[in-house]
Amino acid sequence: MTFDDHSDDIDIDDVIASDQAHVWHHLTQHKPFETANPPVMVSGEGLRITDANGKEFLDAVSGGVWTVNVGYGRERIADAVRDQLVKMCYFANSAGNIPGAMFAKKLIEKMPGMSRVYFSNSGSEANEKAYKMVRQLAAIENDGVKHKIIYRDRDYHGTTIGALSSTGQFQRKAQYGPFAPGFVEMPHCLEYRSQYGDVNDYGERAARELEKVILQEGAETVGAVVLEPITAGGGVITPPEGYWETIQQICKQYNVLLHIDEVVCGVGRTGKWFGYQHYGIKPDFVTMAKGVASGYAAISCTVTTEDIFDRFKADASDPMGYFRDISTFGGCAGGPAAALENMRIIEEENLVENAATMGVYLLDKLRDLQQKHQIIGQVRGKGLFVGLELVKDRASKEPVEEAIPAAIAADCMQQGVIIGRTNRSFESHNNTLCLSPALICTESDLDEIVTAIDNAITRVTAS
Ligand SMILES: Cc1ncc(COP(=O)(O)O)c(C=O)c1O
Repeated sequence: MTFDDHSDDIDIDDVIASDQAHVWHHLTQHKPFETANPPVMVSGEGLRITDANGKEFLDAVSGGVWTVNVGYGRERIADAVRDQLVKMCYFANSAGNIPGAMFAKKLIEKMPGMSRVYFSNSGSEANEKAYKMVRQLAAIENDGVKHKIIYRDRDYHGTTIGALSSTGQFQRKAQYGPFAPGFVEMPHCLEYRSQYGDVNDYGERAARELEKVILQEGAETVGAVVLEPITAGGGVITPPEGYWETIQQICKQYNVLLHIDEVVCGVGRTGKWFGYQHYGIKPDFVTMAKGVASGYAAISCTVTTEDIFDRFKADASDPMGYFRDISTFGGCAGGPAAALENMRIIEEENLVENAATMGVYLLDKLRDLQQKHQIIGQVRGKGLFVGLELVKDRASKEPVEEAIPAAIAADCMQQGVIIGRTNRSFESHNNTLCLSPALICTESDLDEIVTAIDNAITRVTAS
């Protein structure tokens, strides 16, 4: 089979053979690909992608990992990147560039209270930048004492050793230690799996766990807490009522900086520009990556306040007193060019509003499905970011084994619908199906996704 791609005729069999021989895929056990072809994705348009066998899929997870927010095949983003690369592809970000400045301005307009954007390339790296800022502020202002960073059980903050050190997913971390010191875990806030039994103040109690950890470590040693606004790969955990108000108050009381990881939730996914904006939070750091340019270019941002920024220039005579960090590819001008065009599309097509409206529709449909299938213990989410937690028994809430969501996802794939699932994150709670279709989706796309899940659950639970 050949694909006409620009001027070259590509031999797809050669592509597959080369991939099989030389590419090491992410999150993948490769043994099966000694005798079977690895998946190779070839083209995309809207929510649909086509693989090397010519099979079409409806992608209900925006590129597998909640990224392609504006959908596939956006020529205007490709054009913007191309034009920028021809004009000025790169200069280290110690100097500015046109799309970087214009995107930063537009981004800050969506984030009242925030003021400065630091560019890098991935979500992990954006988080690392914030951690370094916290540690350096401690070094500059109090001999490094207030350097610890608290993270939460079930949250994920990235793949590098620093980001993994702050990740609350045991299986994701297993075998990659030892980890960096100075990161301390607090308990999760998944009310469905309440640590306190059936209580009517779960949100407040779960948030008070932060205070317990701060006091146990000594408030003078704790610089920041990093939290996902809605936990993503840890099982799509929407915060319980009263949670964020208490977290914010505790941060203020103990002078602990609040770092919100919006790598998944950011840029419209949850029906607001940023997930934290649902909860009236005033963060000190916001990090974002995936949806910033919808995967059309690699770009991430660490956004902070003018107050934090000012503290890095308080003593201009100190040769060590400014943020001495660089990300080589944070100077690629294609990233912000893509991000700027991506944001224009979201505005022009009202995609944040669409995510909110379609999200309500999707949640309703899935709650109907929950009536039909006992295995669906809970449906939760916000906007186009939804999880279905699967259980053996609704009363005991015993989680199903990972093989069950894997079989359901595989059945959906057979039907031509790609859904996500939590995997290799926890020993016993890899039991959540995840949906995050592109923000352009329609009711009929969502109907197709829900029908596929319905069929798959029917078959898997019957066998
Ligand atoms: C909440 C969250 N933070 C950080 C990251 C890391 O992003 P990246 O894979 O771009 O380094 C991820 C990736 O899935 C994520 O879900």
